[in-house]
Amino acid sequence: MAFETVLNPDATLDAPSPVPRVSPDAPIVLFDSGMGGLTVLEELRKLLPDAPVIYAADTAGLPYGTKTEAQIAARVAGLLGRMTERFAPRLVCIACNTASTIALGMVREVLEVPIVGTVPAIKPAAALTQTGVIGLLGTEATIRQAYVDRLEHEFAAGKLLLRHGAPGLVDAAEAKMRGEPVDPAVIAEAVKALRDQPGGDRIDTVVLACTHFPLVEAELAQAFGPGVRFVHGAPGIAQQIARLTAGQDYSRTRADRALFTGKGMVSAAARDALSRYGLREVGEF
Ligand code: DGL
Repeated sequence: MAFETVLNPDATLDAPSPVPRVSPDAPIVLFDSGMGGLTVLEELRKLLPDAPVIYAADTAGLPYGTKTEAQIAARVAGLLGRMTERFAPRLVCIACNTASTIALGMVREVLEVPIVGTVPAIKPAAALTQTGVIGLLGTEATIRQAYVDRLEHEFAAGKLLLRHGAPGLVDAAEAKMRGEPVDPAVIAEAVKALRDQPGGDRIDTVVLACTHFPLVEAELAQAFGPGVRFVHGAPGIAQQIARLTAGQDYSRTRADRALFTGKGMVSAAARDALSRYGLREVGEF
């Protein structure tokens, strides 16, 4: 049981004040459809190196970006429900823009665990752009979400936000993590799709609105050329996790694990990549 409620000894009977206490070995679960959430884990390690982590990837459902809202919501809610019951995490992070922009509200309503989501970093991009033109690369499912419209209206009013759904970049990032070469044509296609939109030649800031895309940021930077900055949510998400778990104790009683829904999908190269992120055990869930 990860959560236990103890009464604050300073509280009076009139005003009981429950203080949540968390088992030191309760993990933080990071959930994505594939390897993209590792970009969040990388930032989390910098802030909370001692936090026990379970990295959970729905590789049997990958890619999410080409699925319907109903398919994604059902998978995410079902899998997170199972994970929460089985591992009693102190916090769950949906390290996936597609899953978060579709299912975050719903999952928060049904699970009794703090949930941190990942949403496109439009706010910081709007603060950075000098030309007023921002590119946004996400999955097809993410870029059509009302959640993204709301972020645009709230934080990028008066700017031009050009969106492109780039499923090929998810494959490219997964391939790179398997130690395979990244197809330059896929990168070039994504860049061209933004540049060819009216105003696209003035893009100076690009939101990587899919956790997979920072894995191919170097390739994207080369294809865009100088004068383009990239923004993604991972550092902010890690900070939010650190804020929500502030003051909690950590004790790792076993190696951090990567768990997958897909069978037989973890090659030797992928295991190497996972162990570079401190995930030394691999299994299924
Ligand atoms: N990593 C996921 C995201 O941030 C999506 C990848 C996929 O299409 O499954 O949106």
